[in-house]
Amino acid sequence: MRHTRGVEIRELQPHEADRAVELWAECGLTRPWNDPHADLARALGGANSTVLAAVRGEELVGTAMVGHDGHRGWVYYLAVAPGRRRDGVGRCLMEACEQWLRDRGAPKVQLMVRQGNAAVVEFYAALGYTDQGTITLGRFLDPELEARRRMGSER
Ligand SMILES: CC(C)(COP(=O)(O)OP(=O)(O)OC[C@H]1O[C@@H](n2cnc3c(N)ncnc32)[C@H](O)[C@@H]1OP(=O)(O)O)[C@@H](O)C(=O)NCCC(=O)NCCS
Repeated sequence: MRHTRGVEIRELQPHEADRAVELWAECGLTRPWNDPHADLARALGGANSTVLAAVRGEELVGTAMVGHDGHRGWVYYLAVAPGRRRDGVGRCLMEACEQWLRDRGAPKVQLMVRQGNAAVVEFYAALGYTDQGTITLGRFLDPELEARRRMGSER
């Protein structure tokens, strides 16, 4: 698909799922109340979502999950391997997500940044992303999962 300095961006293959989840853990993106394997399987199996992979030869160096609701596109699990950062891979993954959304007619792209990960806002700012002035509210539909999340985030 797209290339930057020997890195190819294409859809993640199912056999790369374990490595992708390892990468998310290395990048601090997993949480005890979310099953990343289930998230990944849902995104790969969904009609309006996918996971993009950045690969250098056989090495998975980055990922981004992308999906849309018709209007808004969302990006999750943007991750670049710690040893492969500041080389344009994150930018290339975001551009590939944007193109994936454009190709499907979604006019907007947005994403959530966890409190405590403010450093990444500079990266997104370099790509033209701005604060949309919204607060995200949510809860798990399963009360047990909601209780786990509350306990985990209060730790
Ligand atoms: C955020 C992340 C994906 C960036 O990937 P990357 O490959 O290092 O980013 P790039 O090299 O493409 O950088 C693109 C631009 O952002 C800037 N940038 C990247 N990381 C930055 C940082 N930590 N602080 C400030 N600016 C940064 C770069 O200078 C670059 O600008 P330039 O091209 O004009 O020089 C990577 O740091 C990462 O995986 N972080 C941990 C996971 C994470 O927080 N994901 C986002 C969850 S919301």
